[in-house]
Amino acid sequence: MNTSTSPNNVRIFDTTLRDGEQSPGCSMTPPQKVVMARALAELGVDVIETGFPASSQSDREAMALIARELRDTTLAVLSRCLEADIDTSLRALEGAARPRLHVFLSTSPLHREYKLRMNKAQVLDSVHKHVAYARRHIDDVEFSAEDATRTEIDFLAQVVEAAIAAGATTINLPDTVGFTTPEEIREMFRKLIAEVPGAGNVVFSAHCHNDLGLAVANSLAAIEGGARQVEGSINGIGERAGNCAIEELVMALKVRNAFYNFDTNIDARRIVPTSQLLSRLVGMPVQRNKAVVGANAFAHESGIHQHGMLRHRGTYEIMRPQDVGWPDTQMVLGRHSGRAAVEARLRALGYWLEDDELAAVFEQFKALCEKQRVVTDSDLQLLMHDDASGNQGYRLASMTINDGGARTGDIRASATVELSDPNGERFTETANGDGPVDALFSALAAATGVDLVLESYQVHSVGLGADARGEANLSVRYGDEEYDGTGTSKDVIEASALAWLDVANRILRERNAVRAGGVIAAA
Ligand code: KIV
Ligand code: ZN
Repeated sequence: MNTSTSPNNVRIFDTTLRDGEQSPGCSMTPPQKVVMARALAELGVDVIETGFPASSQSDREAMALIARELRDTTLAVLSRCLEADIDTSLRALEGAARPRLHVFLSTSPLHREYKLRMNKAQVLDSVHKHVAYARRHIDDVEFSAEDATRTEIDFLAQVVEAAIAAGATTINLPDTVGFTTPEEIREMFRKLIAEVPGAGNVVFSAHCHNDLGLAVANSLAAIEGGARQVEGSINGIGERAGNCAIEELVMALKVRNAFYNFDTNIDARRIVPTSQLLSRLVGMPVQRNKAVVGANAFAHESGIHQHGMLRHRGTYEIMRPQDVGWPDTQMVLGRHSGRAAVEARLRALGYWLEDDELAAVFEQFKALCEKQRVVTDSDLQLLMHDDASGNQGYRLASMTINDGGARTGDIRASATVELSDPNGERFTETANGDGPVDALFSALAAATGVDLVLESYQVHSVGLGADARGEANLSVRYGDEEYDGTGTSKDVIEASALAWLDVANRILRERNAVRAGGVIAAA
């Protein structure tokens, strides 16, 4: 809820559930929309656009469900300039504590001629008539001039004047096809706000699409031009290249507050959890290098950067990861990392080394980086353990998988693993299973004597083309404890075996009870 009356407050109108949801691959069921709407309310958005009721029963259902729960956030729905659409939207809004009706009509020459087949006078008439119709039923009416940025400025001024005269309380000027530039949109807002009669009594809003990657920059420029509401979506989802990414806009206003001098009501620490929730709900991963919410946004691998970060985080970070909801900065250890970063990570894991010890471990670390892209904490622990005791744990020497007729269900899959045990002795073990991975894990359990209960198992590809590798991540239960393991290899089945051994070796080390070929019961 926007309680602020400060002239320097920018309202955030979230359209993740409408513009975002209507984009390919992002559809949500009504219950999923409710989950997302709750998160958006917690995030602190001022308005949630829940859908386009005339377009689907699902949007009407979602609106009703959300209205029951969210009593403090303004809930908006979209309508074309048609009485039937508006009536449907009004019915959908019935249960809402703070309802807003959002009506739109295209105004640009292209849209007038080819989409609407209407002339300027007909557009003006329709805007006035439908905004007035909506206002007879509801106090909070937003009007959007679709394709505003490609509309003749004098005609756009007439449209805005008609909408204000008919009672619109918010005027939205979308850059529907992501065509404008920061200079142009700033000037458009400045001119209309200065010249249109009644402009001082309404809130002006920007709604920018990202076709040229300018949606956030254009929204910031619109604010400079006088907009006091910005429409956008989480992770920037939306039609084609998407909408203004709310997380980026909010953090630009926050980090560069001394420059912009505008605030929002967003609780920035909720940004990453909200982004991740959306990504899970729609099954669309967030691009790793996406600003603020991408996995690499606060990750540093190169030695020079890691060294700088260890001296002063401000060298390579302009905001704290915790301030947007990440647990911490991530120092990714890999081929580009330097000794200082390896030492810092080892200290965080409890290892304080003399210079010569560190030099030896760093050599082993570099050798490991030739084999795998990322060196995890457990890899480092393994290095340290090997170094301290000469204990190599179980190592995979080779494996043979036979899925036989497993796919058709005729014959069970079988796996044979050849391991070297902690004393360096090689031995093999074979097991059957329901599919190759099940057979593989059974063979490893039989070979090591470690019986793990698999809680989750994921494989995904890291990198592209010839450089691509499979990464397997496991969560397992052993006794009362939960363990995570990671394995990386060119082959995803081998990566799975390495992830399994990663966990098993850790358990065996922890219990200090490694016996070649011996069976260790779960605690
Ligand atoms: O991009 C656009 O013009 C829109 C309007 C319907 C607000 O989404
Ligand atoms: Zn849009």
